[in-house]
Amino acid sequence: MANDVSYVKTGIPGVDSVLKGGIYPSSAVTISGPPGSGKSIFGMQFIYYGAKDYGEDGLIISVEESNTSLSEYARSIGWGEWDSLVEKGAITVISNDYFMKTDLPGSLEGILEMIQNTTAKRLVLDSINLFKYYFPEDIDRRRYLLKFIRILKRKSITTLLLSEVMEIFPHLPLTEEMYLSDGNIFLFMSRLGNNVERCFWVTKMRRQDFNMNIVPMGIGKGGIEVYADSIPYSLEVESDRRERL
Ligand SMILES: Nc1ncnc2c1ncn2[C@@H]1O[C@H](COP(=O)(O)OP(=O)(O)OP(=O)(O)O)[C@@H](O)[C@H]1O
Ligand SMILES: [Mg+2]
Repeated sequence: MANDVSYVKTGIPGVDSVLKGGIYPSSAVTISGPPGSGKSIFGMQFIYYGAKDYGEDGLIISVEESNTSLSEYARSIGWGEWDSLVEKGAITVISNDYFMKTDLPGSLEGILEMIQNTTAKRLVLDSINLFKYYFPEDIDRRRYLLKFIRILKRKSITTLLLSEVMEIFPHLPLTEEMYLSDGNIFLFMSRLGNNVERCFWVTKMRRQDFNMNIVPMGIGKGGIEVYADSIPYSLEVESDRRERL
């Protein structure tokens, strides 16, 4: 890895190790997964640690949650400084309170304007499926998404685009944003018998080396933790099992 690049640390335990340092600056990375896989927590944790530990302001665009529910979410996970970081302006939330009082074209233009004026260095869009409601036509959606990503790059903002997918591993869908974005990370549940375990899988990160193995992850107090050097037991093959015993 070149030493002259200052990778953006996610601060999420285990993730920067899988990414061999962090995310290449100004990348737009898609985080995809089915309901309950941890996308929103991943996004919030990236913003929380960015503001708390790395002095980088964050902006969350959350289509479905209100400011209050994000704050409750943070409290339930134990991120005690969330509210004070919001009060200080280190974390800005554009929540569904905003989307409810603005018409569709107005809110899209409004978002671009806010991004142009933000001091944030990290942005989370929860979720990118928002654009599907606005732009039913693929070509229009692709054009807006490209414009959106271009503005973010120009502002040197590192972005997570959260993406809701219908299929469940191993039948992973490939959506257009996965081609347009710089990186792809999947969060999913893997099953063995009646046991289910959470998994983390990076499949693409432009301009950087990373570990492409599927690794286990957990969600608990403190948020997400990725076990960068472990093998999900549900995906172990016989030789892994022998090695472990
Ligand atoms: N405070 C908490 N402590 C432990 N686990 C939690 C906590 N809050 C949420 N979780 C776990 O995280 C899961 C939800 O994560 P999250 O909301 O990030 O999913 P998501 O992928 O964004 O889902 P959706 O697509 O429905 O928005 C819950 O189902 C639960 O298992
Ligand atoms: Mg969510």
